[in-house]
Amino acid sequence: MRLRAASAPSGTAEGEVTAADPSERFDRRVRRLPHLGLGVSTEYGAHRSADTLDLARLVAEHPACVRFLECGVEVAKGLDEDMRRWAGAGRPTTYHFLDLNLDEPEDFDPAWMAAVMEFLEVLRPAWICGDAGLWHFGPRDRGHMLLLPPILSDASATALAAGIVRLREATGREVLPENPPGQVFLGDLHILDFFARVAERADTGVLLDLAHLAIYQRAMGFEVTDGLDGFPLERVVEVHVAGGRERVHEGLAWIEDEHGPEPIADTWTLAERVIPRAPELRAVVFECERNTNGAVGAGFARLAGLMPAGAR
Ligand SMILES: [Fe+2]
Repeated sequence: MRLRAASAPSGTAEGEVTAADPSERFDRRVRRLPHLGLGVSTEYGAHRSADTLDLARLVAEHPACVRFLECGVEVAKGLDEDMRRWAGAGRPTTYHFLDLNLDEPEDFDPAWMAAVMEFLEVLRPAWICGDAGLWHFGPRDRGHMLLLPPILSDASATALAAGIVRLREATGREVLPENPPGQVFLGDLHILDFFARVAERADTGVLLDLAHLAIYQRAMGFEVTDGLDGFPLERVVEVHVAGGRERVHEGLAWIEDEHGPEPIADTWTLAERVIPRAPELRAVVFECERNTNGAVGAGFARLAGLMPAGAR
C-alpha cells in the first residue's frame, strides 16, 4: 500500500476517481482506485467541541495517520465546514452515506440523488461507502440514524446488490457496502457469507468494519475469525477499526460500538488477520472522531504498525 494517491490530473482532487466503466469487472476497476492509507472519519460538526478530535492538530501531530477524511453525510444536514475546507484544499476524501437503505428502490428519490451529486462535486471522493443496512424504517427523515443490520438471507443479498449497482451507475463512482453493527441478527447466513454474496452479485469491493464484525461474532457465539476463510479478501478495499466497550446487562454480555479510543482485543485480532492479507486494500479508517487527540495516539500507532511496509 502506498501512502498517497498518484498526482491528480488538473481539475480533480487528490485521490478522486471518476467515471467507473460499468462494463468493466471489479478486478480491473479496482486497479484505478487510489491508495489512501490511514485516515479518520467525521460527521457533521463532529470535530467542533472540546472533547472531540481537533482535526488540524491531529494532522500536524500524526501526518502519516490522517491521510484522508471519511465524510459521513446525512443529506438533510449536508457538509460541514471541516469537510468543505479539507476538500477545498484538494485533500483526499471518501463519502460515507448515513441515510440510504440500499435495498429500497424508493430511497433513491430524485431530491436525495440530486443532493448527493452536489456533495460529490464538492468532496470529489475516491469512492462512496456506507453501512448496508436500514438507516431508517419507513420514509427517510432528518436525524433517523436507526441503522439496523440487513436480514442475512439470499434474497436480501440480491436486493442490496441491485442498490449498489444502481448507485454506482448513477454516480460513476465505486460503492463499497459496509457490514453494519447490531446485537440481534435475522436470517440464515453468516454475515461474511452474506456480504460475499452481495459483493459477487454487485461485482463490487467492500468495506469491512472489523469492530462491527467482532461484535457480530460475539453476539452470535462464533469464534472471532469464523467465516474469514471463505471470504474474498481480494474485494476488501477499505477497513474500519473502532473502540468498543464490553458490557453486561442483567446477565447478558454484549459489546457496545461506542467508537471510543480503545478497540477491544477481538477487533485487533481481526485487524492483524485482515489488513496484511487484503491485496487490494486501499484505506483504513480509525473511527475515533469523538475522542480527544491525546486519547487516540496509541490506536493510530498500532494501526500504522499493521500497514504493509510501504504504507508507514
Ligand atoms: Fe464503520
